Amino acid sequence: MKILLGITGGIAAYKSLELTRLFVKTGHQVQVVMTSGAKAFIQPLSFQALSGNPVRDSLFDCHQEAGMGHIELARWADQIVIAPASAETLAKLRMGRADDLLTTLCLATEKPIMVAPAMNRLMWSNKATQENVQILKQRGFEVLDPEEGKQACGEVGAGRMPEPQAIFEHTMNAQQQRQHLEQRLLDVRAFWQNRSILITAGPTIEDIDPVRFIGNRSSGKMGFALAEAAQKLGANVTLIAGPVQISSPPTIKRIDVRSADQMFHAVQQHYAGKDVFISAAAVADFKVAQKSVKKIKKQAQEEGLLLSLVKNVDIVAWVAEQENKPFVVGFAAETDHVLEYAKEKLKRKKLDAIIANEVGEGAKGFESNRNCVTLITKDGLQAFEEASKKQLGFQLLDAISSLGFNKTSVCN
Ligand SMILES: Cc1cc2nc3c(=O)[nH]c(=O)nc-3n(C[C@H](O)[C@H](O)[C@H](O)COP(=O)(O)O)c2cc1C
Repeated sequence: MKILLGITGGIAAYKSLELTRLFVKTGHQVQVVMTSGAKAFIQPLSFQALSGNPVRDSLFDCHQEAGMGHIELARWADQIVIAPASAETLAKLRMGRADDLLTTLCLATEKPIMVAPAMNRLMWSNKATQENVQILKQRGFEVLDPEEGKQACGEVGAGRMPEPQAIFEHTMNAQQQRQHLEQRLLDVRAFWQNRSILITAGPTIEDIDPVRFIGNRSSGKMGFALAEAAQKLGANVTLIAGPVQISSPPTIKRIDVRSADQMFHAVQQHYAGKDVFISAAAVADFKVAQKSVKKIKKQAQEEGLLLSLVKNVDIVAWVAEQENKPFVVGFAAETDHVLEYAKEKLKRKKLDAIIANEVGEGAKGFESNRNCVTLITKDGLQAFEEASKKQLGFQLLDAISSLGFNKTSVCN
């Protein structure tokens, strides 16, 4: 592996000599970049001797920059490790600053970045540092939490850089995990390539009269995320969408509908020949028995307005009953007893799988960009940690691809 090792200005900088040695000893290539702060603590010559490469420490280096050296260095690396990472450098990374070579490299790369913060305990627990670290984590930086213990300043607390051996092992494990994930992605892609999938998304709207309607809070984000993930994995995607304000890539065949009846009609037209049907739409259970052609006048309703509702077709159950049906995955949006109700639905509607999510006050399910779901089949369940709906889209398709499509499951 090609490791770009960033050293910043902290007492723990000397420990990174050992880290360099561990990487080199195990056959990895190391190029060291030092901040000017780091050079106040330790000589570049030591890193040069251990890494076998000249140490880079200046952004404005006429010799190196003739060929845009900082961009080349960013491209060269498979992994960036910053150890120790000072409070100052963490703050600069969080802000996206680029006033030295190391921070510029970090901006100019898509490679994984691991940071090992090391500082006085109060610097570490300071809200500013903690907020910087949280933001960096959200952006995908891997942050090694510092250890507790006696510090160089004489204080005791959290802020010590983990030992070089621990950082080394962490780097290796992270690399292994990435390779595993890349392989998994290839497998999932191979599975979905040219499969055809029908997805419904969003709410349906049931008109009362030309100006009023009964709707629900579904945003369509989960169904659209699934459709986009499936399309990126190489599947042929047909998306039947209720009224939502979301755009979709032109490679997805999209059919926009309004009511449950229209959605049912579109599903009837498109389900045949599909490998999978995912019903992510929140289809209205009821519609108004008799839609008024004209606006209902308030004055004519002295006693209030009584609406008579009739049941809509249960679209997902209908698909599950068809001969040569696709593999049918439903959604269960529940406010309480989520798993219990979802299992009951899976069985009653004879679905192959169901994705349960909590909705309502305080829950993520509807409207939010994030969600927390459980995939249930007759054989068991798989819980997914809270994640963005886009991430969950991939994770769910990965999990669905492992379920096997040729068997029709009947729940006991
Ligand atoms: C003796 C001494 C020790 C220091 N130790 C640390 C430290 O362990 N962690 C840290 O974040 N800052 C430490 N600092 C402060 C940083 O060196 C300073 O914030 C510097 O600007 C960091 O810049 P850099 O991240 O570009 O290297 C120390 C400063 C001095 C004078």
